[in-house]
Amino acid sequence: MCGIVGYIGERDAKKVLLDGLLRLEYRGYDSAGIALRTENGIEIKKTKGRISDLERIVGDCCTNSMCGIGHTRWATHGEPSQRNSHPHMSADGRVTLVHNGIIENYIQLKLMLESEGVVFKSETDTEVAVNLIAKYYKSDPLEAIYKAMNDIRGSFALAIMFDGSPDELYAVKKDNPLIIGIGNGNHENFIASDIPAILKWTRDYIVLGELEVAKVTRDGIYITDKHGAPVEPRREHVMWNYDAAEKGGYPHFMLKEIFEQPTVLRDTIGPRIKDDGIATFEDEGLTDEILRNTKRTYIAACGSALHSGIIGRTFIERLAGIPAEYEVASEFRYRDPILYPDDLVVIISQSGETADSLAALRLAKAKGLRTVAIVNVVGSSIARAADVALYMNVGPEIAVATTKAFSAQVAMLLILAIQTAKAKGNLTNEKLQELSRELSHLPQLIGELMPLYESTKQLAGHLAQRDHIFFIGRGLDYAACYEGSLKLKEISYIHSEAYAAGELKHGTISLIEPDTPVIAIATQKEIFEKTVSNIKEVKARGAFVVLITGKGMYDANGDSYADYVIEVPECNELLLPSLVVVACQIISYNIAAVMGCDIDKPRNLAKSVTVE
Ligand code: M6R
Repeated sequence: MCGIVGYIGERDAKKVLLDGLLRLEYRGYDSAGIALRTENGIEIKKTKGRISDLERIVGDCCTNSMCGIGHTRWATHGEPSQRNSHPHMSADGRVTLVHNGIIENYIQLKLMLESEGVVFKSETDTEVAVNLIAKYYKSDPLEAIYKAMNDIRGSFALAIMFDGSPDELYAVKKDNPLIIGIGNGNHENFIASDIPAILKWTRDYIVLGELEVAKVTRDGIYITDKHGAPVEPRREHVMWNYDAAEKGGYPHFMLKEIFEQPTVLRDTIGPRIKDDGIATFEDEGLTDEILRNTKRTYIAACGSALHSGIIGRTFIERLAGIPAEYEVASEFRYRDPILYPDDLVVIISQSGETADSLAALRLAKAKGLRTVAIVNVVGSSIARAADVALYMNVGPEIAVATTKAFSAQVAMLLILAIQTAKAKGNLTNEKLQELSRELSHLPQLIGELMPLYESTKQLAGHLAQRDHIFFIGRGLDYAACYEGSLKLKEISYIHSEAYAAGELKHGTISLIEPDTPVIAIATQKEIFEKTVSNIKEVKARGAFVVLITGKGMYDANGDSYADYVIEVPECNELLLPSLVVVACQIISYNIAAVMGCDIDKPRNLAKSVTVE
């Protein structure tokens, strides 16, 4: 939520900041702004709307500036508007900053500052932070930041400019991500919320730790902890190249990321299948011994990551024979869940920064439990906080709607189940080898679904503009429904619900009218006929049924119950949810494209949800 950039060096700061903001626009796109240091002081340009709107406003201004900060906003306090846009400057004009996060005690701080004569211009909590720092700023920026940090309750990542320190930028963070890009001897350094913003200039960076403060100059990065003691920076290098964060000829990142799946999933799965032919995370720190001692797996995550966990629960229970639970991270963190010492808590997160998932992880750790994180972004907060971090290896995911990361999560949960089954001695080596071999074919099977992009366009035209679309299925198919339904609603704005096929008749079937679209998923052989009965129930009420099923499974036998059939390739039943979801990704994309939706940046959403 919200993207931050900062630059100090020898280039045109305006261009570096605008380029960086464009790469962070997935984090929020309600408004945008930059502050540039010029010979006449700090020049702020900001506007409601997107980076393209900001570019128009900035125009040719400030071409000589080589230092500045920028922001792209996902509104929390105060409507999206010019005056609530960042950067914000203190009332006395001495401090300017951009903020990602929420200052929880902002009302109390605001009243205190107002009583001291500060006049506020916006409705944001951020303006409180900037004035608080200004209150404490005598001549030493670090001192002002430390003092303000003591007063603030909440989460923040800040990039700050002080009028008395023209050759310095400052950065500080708590519960929100911030990295410092290393200019590698080019007399420049960067501040950013995420790696894509700096990839054009450098692949080396430092991950700022909790309550650490960085002083960033052209030639140096100096980090201290909240007590002012120097901190040895943790330097990281990212393997992604700049092209990975480009659309590469596709109209949208989402489509590019859908099509990347057959390639990138090889990097998720391949290196984990060892010489004995069995998939494992053993050499990434998740040992067989840990899993042997695990009596229950507890998965906590949000959104699509949770949906992968719902599928993963079945993998673990079926293969490893131990109970597995899943829970929405935002509920888990406040419910005081009953956890046992031999539980393994698994947190799943593409970004590794989702506030609720991070809090769930911290809660599990505080209760003394072992934690594993399945994450994509290397060095992210969740990856660093977990006992073991397992990486998805799918490269940057830019579209707000996740596709390739979801598929990687499901594949990794299958590996977790295979390894747990091995550690527990629940399956023979032959069976584990067979499962691992089948999993290694998943990328190719997903590749076979790509022609759906062309073949489902007409279907998408038929489904577009509908008010409601239902997804029904049983067992693993039901789990896949959750993700199919979310994919559709988040990018097309069509209301959609995922329902257990057998549950529909207990109320929701009253919503089925002639021509209501129902996407029925029926891939699991054992329960196929049961689902078919439920499909017939909606068909009898006039539903337009799209059936997603395994190859050769649909045999109407004179009793046609589907209006449109999509067959996914034959494979192990445990892989079928992955194939079904890819089919749903493509259909949802096509529907949203027909409707002319802003597919990569759906309204009200942000890629990385760093507020609770
Ligand atoms: O970065 P995370 O995986 O923790 O994000 C979790 C959810 O916010 C995310 O999956 C969200 O539901 C996506 N918009 C789904 O496409």
